[in-house]
Amino acid sequence: MPMFVVTGGAGFIGSNFVRLALAQSPDLRIVNIDLLTYAGNLENLAGVPEDRHTFVRADITDPEAMARAIPPNADALVNFAAETHVDRSILCPLAFVRTNVLGTQVLLEAARARGAKRFLQVSTDEVYGALAPDDPPFTEDHPLAPSSPYAASKAGADLLALAAYRTYGQDVVITRCSNNYGPYQVPEKLIPLMLSNALEDKPLPVYGDGRQVRDWIYTDDHSRAILAAATRGRPGRVYNIGARNERYNIDVVRGILRQLGKPESLIEHVTDRPGHDRRYAIDSRRAQQELGWRPETVFEEGLARTIRWYRDHADWWRRVKDGSYREFYEKWYGGR
Ligand code: NAD
Ligand code: DAU
Repeated sequence: MPMFVVTGGAGFIGSNFVRLALAQSPDLRIVNIDLLTYAGNLENLAGVPEDRHTFVRADITDPEAMARAIPPNADALVNFAAETHVDRSILCPLAFVRTNVLGTQVLLEAARARGAKRFLQVSTDEVYGALAPDDPPFTEDHPLAPSSPYAASKAGADLLALAAYRTYGQDVVITRCSNNYGPYQVPEKLIPLMLSNALEDKPLPVYGDGRQVRDWIYTDDHSRAILAAATRGRPGRVYNIGARNERYNIDVVRGILRQLGKPESLIEHVTDRPGHDRRYAIDSRRAQQELGWRPETVFEEGLARTIRWYRDHADWWRRVKDGSYREFYEKWYGGR
């Protein structure tokens, strides 16, 4: 029976991957390790087959806990666990260094000690920094030039993973994906924040002029790419993942308001994010050629599906927006 260890599998993309991988491989088992921070939520895993999914609450920065939690000889360890929100990394960078850098190193060592056959590091296009309007999309050879503490911590993790490949011959594969959207995304990220605020008739805080560009991919497409990289990727290789859906933020926000039938007067231009990357765009030809993967979801269809999901699951995002989320929201948006 094939077996994966997944870390961060109660988060937005990790839980999507767990559902998708278990559905696609009827004999696959997954051990899912997650600390359940504010971003982790067991509700995201409702309905996964219990006989093939084991959940362990543990911290990836704790070597002893990892030695206990990681079963021997897994086919792959797929590391999603991370602090992921750029704005939080500006307020509190140390947590990002701890989880993303230290946590990845602890996992690399634990995976080697436990005989995991492959280490798949889930990374981000943010490690490349920003593109100018006419630059070609990022390829895997683009220099690393991260702007935020989040991006720098992810770049650090990538370098540690590549060092483990070169030094110990550990089978490491890295995926670097662009901005994801879809169900179960914490409403601190652009699309679910704008959607949930609009549904509550609250202001939509757009940073600066809103003419920053992000390259959007539906979560299912990202998860399929990770599955392909985990099974067919070459050791020591980096794969960019993206769907060539470049959009201005302001256009995404207007599109959401249009679909919800809400007025544009809800948009509020607020002080820009410090160090804000102006544009991301991903060239994913290597992944398409070597992994036999391609994105399937057209942005407008994926966005419509996402909007329907948030409209139908107000209880889910209302619960997330209670509690510690409020504290962050006040601290970050209060003075803008
Ligand atoms: P998320 O914030 O929704 O989920 C992160 C998960 O990691 C949560 O379940 C959380 O509880 C868990 N976690 C955090 N710290 C932990 C720790 N110390 N030990 C164990 N678990 C811990 O994140 P996401 O958006 O699903 O992103 C998942 C991965 O994909 C991250 O590595 C991120 O850098 C990468 N990524 C995200 C995007 C995106 O657009 N969201 C794009 C490219 C890459
Ligand atoms: O590119 C991949 C990355 O995408 C991932 O690695 C990160 O984990 C993920 O959070 C995301 O980072 P971004 O900073 O691009 O995503 P965010 O949703 O925070 O912001 C998207 C864009 O929207 C960005 O240009 C900032 C802008 N924005 C965001 C928020 C939260 C606003 O204008 N207003 C807001 O309130």
